Amino acid sequence: MPSVYIKTYGCQMNERDSEAVAAQLVAKGYALAKSEAAADVVLLNTCSVRDLAEQKAINKMKNLVGTARSEKRDQIVGFMGCMAQSRGQELIDKLPDVDLVLGTQKFHRAAEYLDELLAGGRRTKIVDIAAEARSEATIREHLLNGSAKTSVSAFVSIMQGCNQHCTFCIVPSTRGEERSRTIDDIVAECRELVSRGVREITLLGQIVTSFGKRDYPLLDGKSGFVQLLDAVHEIEGLERIRFTSPHPKGYGDDLVDAYARLPKLCESAHIPLQSGSDRILKLMHRGYTREKFLAIVEKLRRAKPGIGITTDIIVGFPGETGEDFELTLSLCREVQFDNAYIFKYSQRRDTPAAGMPDQVPLEIREERNERLLHLVNEIAARKYDAFIGRQVEILVEGPSKKNAARYTGRTRCNRIVLFDGSARHQGQLMDVKIERTGSFTLYGDPAVVNL
Ligand code: 5AD
Repeated sequence: MPSVYIKTYGCQMNERDSEAVAAQLVAKGYALAKSEAAADVVLLNTCSVRDLAEQKAINKMKNLVGTARSEKRDQIVGFMGCMAQSRGQELIDKLPDVDLVLGTQKFHRAAEYLDELLAGGRRTKIVDIAAEARSEATIREHLLNGSAKTSVSAFVSIMQGCNQHCTFCIVPSTRGEERSRTIDDIVAECRELVSRGVREITLLGQIVTSFGKRDYPLLDGKSGFVQLLDAVHEIEGLERIRFTSPHPKGYGDDLVDAYARLPKLCESAHIPLQSGSDRILKLMHRGYTREKFLAIVEKLRRAKPGIGITTDIIVGFPGETGEDFELTLSLCREVQFDNAYIFKYSQRRDTPAAGMPDQVPLEIREERNERLLHLVNEIAARKYDAFIGRQVEILVEGPSKKNAARYTGRTRCNRIVLFDGSARHQGQLMDVKIERTGSFTLYGDPAVVNL
């Protein structure tokens, strides 16, 4: 039985794709290897969103075909996912030891291709990055016993691709045009997960709020995405629903109402801001203004006062002046995000922003990154400290990775809580009292709880 090791770079969509590929391979008789060195096949599931992510995967591959190959000459190695899609054959031209390059619409063919490569004793190379109709519906297999945590909380891919064409972003060319699965198909997958013990589902896509735009016309003022939330909410035994990532333009009243109407929809939202300057937002082709973004946050907080709001911000987009950056800082002060992921702008091939004038020098991008990080962390720490002494409901996911005596759960607003727990807590919704905070972590005491 051949064994496979998959290493994943990048976002939750990539994690989900890797899980689906692993589940597919297990179903076809492959074993999951504990380490790269022990594996007959090593696949790197890659990210292209920033240059650093690409370089990491390329260096990893160099390392694999260098040292590991000399010890394990027949090991099959491949790239899959976003960088495989955008670079294709070029990867094999540069790294001739690579056996397989599998694009983002071809994950479901992994077993077939690996069987072929293993049978051929590495004499062939396979590059498949073609588009494939309905590939969005093929990311559906789960590895529920892969780790204890996955059986409590699962991710479900609802769509692929993106039509927004933000000028900085490579995703439209790595993931293709926006394509949605059907509501029935997604609900069937969620039902199956719940019947296997899953209690929380996160719906995944590049822009989930655009789900079903073409296929599901507005129904009672509800978008296709809100119709999907309604349908998933009906599933008995499911306790919590989350989604990522939305686009600010998707926060119509139907979605804001959904937070108020649907008790299983957790009060947490990751809403990518990117910049606080209208001028930069326009150059980025984001389709909203600072004022609109603030209005969304206000509407959400009115509907759900404790809602956790996180964001993504890019610093040093071409043409960003000190004044533009100050506007991002002031917006962060105004919104008081629970957390923000900050990215230094990275030029991506074939994107409009790569050719824009006034590229911002690295030192300035670094300096802005530091300043924004400092502000965001300060605000986040204050917001975490405000939890001390409060009782919160958590869904217990399983033992903590670092300390097996500690269990980890999440609040509805998506904060991680550690507490002294045991196996009987796993999968339970329980109340804990928050006693202290760490870096982006709350420490709880379940002693007050009548479980
Ligand atoms: N440079 C820096 N950050 C980027 N992101 C997307 N493209 C780029 C780029 N070219 C960030 C955005 C997005 C997150 C996933 O990655 O903030 O929301």
